[in-house]
Order: sequence, then C-alpha cells, then structure tokens
Amino acid sequence: ALVPTAELVAGAVRRGGAVAAVNVVTLEHAEAICAAAEAAGIGVILQISENAVRYHGGRLEPIAAAGAAVARLAAVPVSLHLDHVTDDTLVARAAEARFSSVMYDAGALPHGENLARTARAARVAHANGLWIEAELGHVGGKPDAPRSAHAAGVRTDPGEAEEYVSRTGVDALAVAVGSRHAMTARTALLDTGLIGRLRDRLDVPLVLHGSSGVPDDQLRAAAEAGIRKVNVGTALGVAMTRSVRAVLAGDETLVDPRTYLAAAREAMSGTVGQLLSVLP
Ligand code: G3H
Ligand code: ZN
Repeated sequence: ALVPTAELVAGAVRRGGAVAAVNVVTLEHAEAICAAAEAAGIGVILQISENAVRYHGGRLEPIAAAGAAVARLAAVPVSLHLDHVTDDTLVARAAEARFSSVMYDAGALPHGENLARTARAARVAHANGLWIEAELGHVGGKPDAPRSAHAAGVRTDPGEAEEYVSRTGVDALAVAVGSRHAMTARTALLDTGLIGRLRDRLDVPLVLHGSSGVPDDQLRAAAEAGIRKVNVGTALGVAMTRSVRAVLAGDETLVDPRTYLAAAREAMSGTVGQLLSVLP
C-alpha cells in the first residue's frame, strides 16, 4: 500500500529503529525493493532522486507513476520520496506526482543561503502537504555536485543543527556523521557519539545519507544511536551491474533484456533484504 513517508518515519521513531529509503532508477529497482520489503514484512521508502528524474529526460511523472503503482500493489506499507531536490519547482510539483515527501538539498550552499532557501522550500512543501527533509553539514561524494562550501570531512554541529531546524521548519535532518555518497566499498567510519548528541539536541528524526559505504554493524549502531531513515542507492547499482555483467559474460548470444534484468532485479532484492535484516 502507498502510505505517507511521515507514517513510516514515525513508525521508526516509535520503535527506536530506522526505515530504509532506497533509490529507484528503473522499474526493476522499485520491484526489487518492494519484493524484499514484502519478504521481510517491513515497510520501506522508495526514493527517486532529482538526478534519476534527469536521467529520465527531466520528466518527473513517468518514473514517479511507476514507483507509486508498485508501492500501491505492495503487501507492506511503501512511500514515495523525492530525493536531493535542488530545483525549487520540483517541490511544488511533487505532491501531484504522488510523492508524500521531499529532501531539499541546499547542503552544498553557504550556510545563510542554505537556510533561506530551505526555509522557503519547507513553506512550499508544507503548503502542499509534503514532509520535508534537508541537509546540514554536506555529506558529499556526489559526482556532479557543486563544490562544497564546507571542507571535506566536516561534521554536523549539534548547536548549529538545532538553530537550522527551528529556523527552517523542516521535518527531518540529514546529518554529516562520517558517511559519503557513492561509496562502492563499505569502509565508512561513523561517529555514533555525534549521532547520539544530535538526537539528544534535536526534536526531528535524523537521516543518514550515503549508507552504501557503511558496514552492517555500523548501520545498526547508527540506528541504535538515533538515525531513523537510512538512504541507500549505490549498493543497488553495484548489485545490478555486477549481475548484468556476469550474465552477459556467460552468454554472447543473449539478446533478451529480460534475462539479465531479471537477474539484476533478483540481485538488488538480495541487497535490500540484507539491509532490512540489519536495521532495527
Ligand atoms: O539519498 C540517497 C543516498 O544518500 C544514497 O547514497 O548511493 O551512497 O548509498 P549512496
Ligand atoms: Zn543522499
């Protein structure tokens, strides 16, 4: 069933756990994520990034409709989230495309500008009934992201975060605590002490980005320390591509895309299943 993101995050807050939010690029991603969620009997967030929308020719509706349809048919609660939005017009259009939440990404901008633009985005989001997440303390690692206004290795400061949340009015905060986007090896080292300090200081749920690079034990520790939404994208790209490569290498005469896409979907589902088994 298609449910609001706010409901899934509230559930994670209630149980002191974390909901997985997994990036959708193709229909097969959505199918793989929902299949894993159904097998585990756990709700999940399907997130479509602005980059993925760009990949689909800048068209928001087709991929959103696919995600919403797969979510609606799922036997577990599934929500649709628009991720890493930098284009303000997308915030206003999200609800109509059946998203119930957006992540507004001004994390690479200077602090004052981040604050002003995020506060404005939060007003637009709330006026459209959307739950909104924003980022403070740039997570980094996105290949075509503008140069960060922050130095590499920067962490979210709890005091600054408290002021940021109250001045922007966002519903959740993505924090920089040691993860980085697009890691293909799971070598990140999280500052769980900082996660705990941020949780104690803030009254909104915390979000971990770049979770593909975080080892299982640290993902669990992060959730136990206060992360309530765990964003994973690259790990599915790794699973999908590895699988496609192996299938194609095994048969040079193969031409039916369903053969390798089915294997890829299966592989992605396995990755999500593993993630769901780790998160409390
Ligand atoms: O918002 C999406 C996540 O932060 C994905 O990060 O691709 O490094 O797992 P990742
Ligand atoms: Zn992210």
